[in-house]
Amino acid sequence: MSQQLWEREYINKAISSSTNTKPSHGTQFFRQCLPRIAEVEGPPRLLDLGCGGGRNATVLKETGLDYYGMDFAHRPLAKAAAREDGPSLRLVQGSMAEKLPYKTNTFSIVSAFTSVENVVENAQLRFLSQEIRRVLCPQGLLYVYFMTPDDGYYQPLVNQSADARSLTYDPVTELRQRVYQLHELCDLFSPSFTLQASDDFVFEDTRSHNTYLRHLAAGLWQAS
Ligand SMILES: C[S@@+](CC[C@H](N)C(=O)[O-])C[C@H]1O[C@@H](n2cnc3c(N)ncnc32)[C@H](O)[C@@H]1O
Repeated sequence: MSQQLWEREYINKAISSSTNTKPSHGTQFFRQCLPRIAEVEGPPRLLDLGCGGGRNATVLKETGLDYYGMDFAHRPLAKAAAREDGPSLRLVQGSMAEKLPYKTNTFSIVSAFTSVENVVENAQLRFLSQEIRRVLCPQGLLYVYFMTPDDGYYQPLVNQSADARSLTYDPVTELRQRVYQLHELCDLFSPSFTLQASDDFVFEDTRSHNTYLRHLAAGLWQAS
């Protein structure tokens, strides 16, 4: 269901990442983490989960690692393949809710830019974290840029579940997503990962002709 909604979103383009070809705000902190990333002695490969149209590839390739992108929707993958650097991107259609289509110990770093929001159940996110741990090398890194419950667009859409998850339903896209606090991700990634660094992002963003104060965050975790 959510795959069909994302395919439709890449036609309707209500979300800025569906049209924006500039790298996401979340790449700013990623750049600051480059020296830390360079210390990882692992395979020369990076995996970008929920890669969309590949707009973050330029910055992610500053690591010097080969870029692998995975998304469950066809349209953004076709868009990524059509980029000027498309032929150098290794793109695969796959879901973050299933076993990742890569062998154990394939990557030095895995990134996810505003995509883990689509994994709404604790058990699903725990499974994803184990899968990321499996495809990463020992001491490999996980970089996640995510929307928080304070976000100016999603905050009015938050519906607290009985188990305190911040679930959202967006009437424009009809997507059901989850906004996370940093400590929730730390809990759900534990014991596979330990937080190394984090940052907050606050900026103005226009969506559907309105301006919102966006609140996102990023974390860098190391496989334990
Ligand atoms: C907000 S977009 C972000 C795209 C890209 N990371 C960026 O920053 O431009 C979220 C992306 O996650 C993908 N996605 C959502 N749920 C997914 C899932 N379960 N498995 C794989 N990709 C998923 C969507 O198709 C979409 O391309």
